[in-house]
Amino acid sequence: MGSISTDAGLVPRSPAAGPLDTRPSGRVSSWALARDGETLGAHTARQALRLCEAAELSGADSAEYARTLLAALGPVGERSLRLPPPDASFLSDDHTPVEFSLACTPDGRPTLRVLLEPGCGAADLAANGRTGLRAVRAMARRWGFDTSRLDELEDLFLPPDPQGPLALWCALELVPGGVPKVKVYLNPAASGQERSAATVREALRRLGHRRAFASLPEGDRHLFFALDLGDWDEPRVKVYLAHHDLSAAEAARLSRVDGGPGPAEIASFFRMAAGHDVEGAGAAAGPDPRLDRRPVQSCHAFTETASGRPSGFTLYVPVRDYARHDGESLDRAVAVLRRHGMDPAPLRRSLAAVTSRRLRDGVGLIAYLGLAHQEGRPPRVTTYLSSEAYEVRPPATPAAPRARARAGA
Ligand code: TRP
Repeated sequence: MGSISTDAGLVPRSPAAGPLDTRPSGRVSSWALARDGETLGAHTARQALRLCEAAELSGADSAEYARTLLAALGPVGERSLRLPPPDASFLSDDHTPVEFSLACTPDGRPTLRVLLEPGCGAADLAANGRTGLRAVRAMARRWGFDTSRLDELEDLFLPPDPQGPLALWCALELVPGGVPKVKVYLNPAASGQERSAATVREALRRLGHRRAFASLPEGDRHLFFALDLGDWDEPRVKVYLAHHDLSAAEAARLSRVDGGPGPAEIASFFRMAAGHDVEGAGAAAGPDPRLDRRPVQSCHAFTETASGRPSGFTLYVPVRDYARHDGESLDRAVAVLRRHGMDPAPLRRSLAAVTSRRLRDGVGLIAYLGLAHQEGRPPRVTTYLSSEAYEVRPPATPAAPRARARAGA
């Protein structure tokens, strides 16, 4: 695991725990533990708190969301970071069951989101899914929303003997007011990889999207099936596809949104995120390189059942596998934000809220860059920020020391 132990105990991997110390002690039990031995909950709740403040949420909302994160994590929140991760969670590279993201638009404040695995640390995937479902139902009771659309899919995605890299994740959009918008992520391969297309088709059908499956582009694998629950203007059903060895030109043809983002815009985002066109000056000369390490993902969002067409398209580039270090990933994120007329300052603040390490000392703090288009709305640029509770991946630069990057080094 990460080089976090010193003679004195644990080196904090995030900036000093200042903001928490100013709050009445005991409001969040794990916070007190942070002083003696950092826990997973204390680490991620402090990151959440600082991120909320960086996103200009009120102090009350920030504290509330830190508590919400701890509650959703459950008992693994109390686990010392001196122990290995609770399990091999697929949610992040170092198996922290939490990942943050910032969604920016040309107008208005960015939205902070947190993705988490409530069932992390459960005895097996079936128990993981049951815990996840209980956590979502607890949220539904607390915030007064309906889970019937999820309930209708339970047998498809949460069978008694599930397979695959996840059972249930949930994401919270930390909007002002202390009541998050909730999204649930399910695994199309739960009943077997070979059944995943049929599972997605059936899930779409049950939700009334009878013609949606036929409108999806080709992909190598169905990765996630996601549902918006709670107070959304237009709740979405989303299908995520993985695309191995994708080129910018191929990425440009993946959107099935009527009158959606132009192919040139998607290709340009792909090239900038992949580092093929850092300045945004246009296509690089020569052949279009393919992203052959970790697959690019596309997301197709359905909001109405009449047309059979998606109304939203997102492309996710796993920037961490195509950059030497996070300084490079940030440069690309900033270039993409500027190109879309967005202010990079909130992203810079967010990175400082999550870690105190130098960006060039590791790669993977910025996990993905995404470009999202939803009909009738301005484009969104999303940046996924790893918690790095357990490990920092060393930079890929030949000049960098081989040893694992130490926080704050
Ligand atoms: N860690 C997984 C991956 O890298 C799943 C994941 C987490 C993901 N956050 C994501 C996938 C954001 C796409 C976008 O694939």
